[in-house]
Amino acid sequence: MTTINQYINTHKERFLDELFDLLRFPSVSTDKKFKDDILKTANFLKDKLVAAGADKVEVCPTNGNPIVYGEKIVGENLPTVLVYGHYDVQPADPEHLWLTPPFEPTVRDGNIYARGACDDKGQVYMHIKAFEYMMASEQVPCNVKFMLEGEEEIGSVHLADFVRTNKEKLTADVILISDTSMIANEIPSMATGLRGLSYMEVEVTGANRDLHSGVYGGAVENPINVLCEMIASLKDKNGKITIPHFYDKVEELSTLERQLMSEIPFSLDDYKKELDIAEVSGEQGYSTVERASTRPTLDVNGIWGGYTGEGAKTVLPSKAYAKISMRLVPHQDSEEISQLFAKHFESIAPKTVKVKVSFHHGGEPVVVSIDSVAYKAAERAYETTFGRKPIPKREGGSIPIVAMFKKELGLDSLLMGFGLDSDAIHSPNEHYGIFNYLKGIETIPYFYQYYAQMSK
Ligand code: BES
Ligand code: MN
Ligand code: MN
Repeated sequence: MTTINQYINTHKERFLDELFDLLRFPSVSTDKKFKDDILKTANFLKDKLVAAGADKVEVCPTNGNPIVYGEKIVGENLPTVLVYGHYDVQPADPEHLWLTPPFEPTVRDGNIYARGACDDKGQVYMHIKAFEYMMASEQVPCNVKFMLEGEEEIGSVHLADFVRTNKEKLTADVILISDTSMIANEIPSMATGLRGLSYMEVEVTGANRDLHSGVYGGAVENPINVLCEMIASLKDKNGKITIPHFYDKVEELSTLERQLMSEIPFSLDDYKKELDIAEVSGEQGYSTVERASTRPTLDVNGIWGGYTGEGAKTVLPSKAYAKISMRLVPHQDSEEISQLFAKHFESIAPKTVKVKVSFHHGGEPVVVSIDSVAYKAAERAYETTFGRKPIPKREGGSIPIVAMFKKELGLDSLLMGFGLDSDAIHSPNEHYGIFNYLKGIETIPYFYQYYAQMSK
């Protein structure tokens, strides 16, 4: 019988070439001009699922980007694993900061550089190759279903509808996702929590048109100045968010939980060095690991207005804008927080301006139990391939659909991510280690094997 290691050794080059093909599609979901590339990516994945041996493979249309579905049902009494991942990617900009073009995958120092290499095409493709191995070696110990979407990076809006209307088709025992990171290649970890999100946009209007900043300046409000003051007031000097009732539902971790978190391997020096910063910043009284995972945040993602072209133009702008996101933790509620934000932001606006607040997308925070059969099976899988158990660790990022799966399907998710925080996801020069890619392919079949055994 071929072992997974032998199989990887024989097919390594092809595994990489196929991933490179997948990475060449610029499947950016936020920009309509890539619609065609999105469709091509979905079809590519469909073909690869068929080739690996999946049944009932289809590209399911939605009102947005399509969902790729496929399955292998091997036995009615066997547990069913629903693999979820996303084939859409973030925009590549700022493109000039990429050392090699974002959609021409390039290997440097054992890493695959491309937009989506880690988030999430590389991690999705590990599952298809692990499945290919299980099919080829005739050892599929569980029923497997794949659901790959094209709108994760824009809030999974249409996936939510799809899940609600396809509950039967999506029946499973657990959802398996590789879209998070681990501590280091020698220190595997599994995500046991994700933050939620409220993403807002604000518009501040002064006069009804742009004005000459000499003729009117000093006498008429400048909405950019006001916006900056309003934003600055959203946090106090201790890094606490000042929106009334923002923290009402935030769960404080127990002393024991905080103690365990402080034992997670983490070097503040390396962290600062890697980011080239002299100091970290954040909410007083919490460690960097806590600030970036178990505490809520408020950040400006973009701010604009007035003249930003070449040279200088003297103008007193009519409008100023900002995109502001808040990361949420258990038991904050995305809609409630969005409303608190809107109410507060409107209330702090001076009479000299008009303010409009709108909501982009959101998602609820989640925590994953480490006592489930699935988690224990995954632990054993890591033990087999990494030689040590994964460390459970809450993560700061968001995968909004995970809470939705729980709510609509009653299913828990297992977050077996193989990326690293240094993979530069969403940044220029995103990359994914070849080690990580192959290690994922190696580890996943063991998970299925142990999960089937332990579910009996
Ligand atoms: N894969 C990430 C989320 C992630 C990354 C979780 C690293 C844990 C560790 C996902 O693709 C992502 O970027 N999600 C968005 C949310 C979405 C609504 C735009 C995020 O977290 O900003
Ligand atoms: Mn992702
Ligand atoms: Mn992402």
